[in-house]
Amino acid sequence: DHAVAVFTSGGDAPGMNAVVRSVVRCGIHHARDVFAVYEGYQGLVDGAGKIRKMEWTDVQMMIYKGGTVIGSARCKEFREREGRLAACKHLVDRGITNIICCGGDGSLTGANIFKLEWASLLEELRSSGRVTDAQAQKYANINIIGCVGSIDNDMVYDGTLTIGTDTALHRIVDAIDAVQSTASSHQRTFVLEIMGRHCGYLAWAAGVATGADYIFIPEAPSKHDDWESVLCAKLDHQRKRGARLCTVLVAEGAIDKFGKPIKTEYVRQVIIDRLGHDTRSTILGHVQRGGYASAYDRFLGSVSGALAVERLLRTKPEDASTIVGVKGYSVAFNPLVETIEATQMVAKHTEQLDFEAAIQARGKDFKRHWAIQ
Ligand code: F6P
Repeated sequence: DHAVAVFTSGGDAPGMNAVVRSVVRCGIHHARDVFAVYEGYQGLVDGAGKIRKMEWTDVQMMIYKGGTVIGSARCKEFREREGRLAACKHLVDRGITNIICCGGDGSLTGANIFKLEWASLLEELRSSGRVTDAQAQKYANINIIGCVGSIDNDMVYDGTLTIGTDTALHRIVDAIDAVQSTASSHQRTFVLEIMGRHCGYLAWAAGVATGADYIFIPEAPSKHDDWESVLCAKLDHQRKRGARLCTVLVAEGAIDKFGKPIKTEYVRQVIIDRLGHDTRSTILGHVQRGGYASAYDRFLGSVSGALAVERLLRTKPEDASTIVGVKGYSVAFNPLVETIEATQMVAKHTEQLDFEAAIQARGKDFKRHWAIQ
């Protein structure tokens, strides 16, 4: 009979609202009280009006919206024990021991640490009289389920997309289509910067989907010391065979083989200096992250939210935290800690330019494995 809470954390992603809607309705369907925590971890720490009990109609007309209606915020207080004690008390006061966190690797790690620390937080609150013995006994455990919300598609797990990636990809492809029509009119070259933090998935997938001439991604830096010459030879060849335009995509985390960042403006200047192309650059920016959610992200968010509730209601106190996802036509449950550790190992190895180790850490993670091939 314990209540369920849902919150969104980290960078917003289209599809997060579908998760919240689905958790609320699925929880109510199972006769649970469901709370939405506004402003992410900040809402957990602040309590009061930021942890709101939701009714069925509170989440109507929400499924298609971009961003996260219940908000997301960076929260320094939750990093301190005092903040987590406050969060623990706010949850116990409302009878909440089931939490669904929709966010990226940092947010989900925070949620799991909270779970591991729960018993000691509760004991501190009990011994200082802030919760009763009966409350401490009744709410002795907390269960966490993660839904991965991030446009970057940067979670290492087998064959699943993160919530928001599909929408961002559509947005990026639309923008590139628009740029290509004007580029073609003036026979220009465009260098476009694509989001993704340390992950090149968006740039890589958008590049394939729009027929870009060259793509820079962090996972597979050019093997050449002088990548500038390789790039220019490729673009020159395209023009000589009659192309009216060239498109170069730069993932924001792109690096050369020495680990030096590849900057959009630098790429543009190289093309101008060496080839004399009329070259423009466009940083697509947060347009990629905002706006209404695609059909797939609404589907993915809805299914993930419902699965998360179903899973929580079957979780035993001793069970580890889980990440819920959708793989093809089936459901994917992955252990939260191992999945995040693998994700962070990939980022670390990539940063250290140890690409072999990064591939190993990726394991069966198709989406990034393909990119590297
Ligand atoms: O993780 C999502 C993302 O949009 C990344 O692609 C990008 O690097 C980052 O967030 C931008 O963060 P902010 O909105 O805080 O500038």
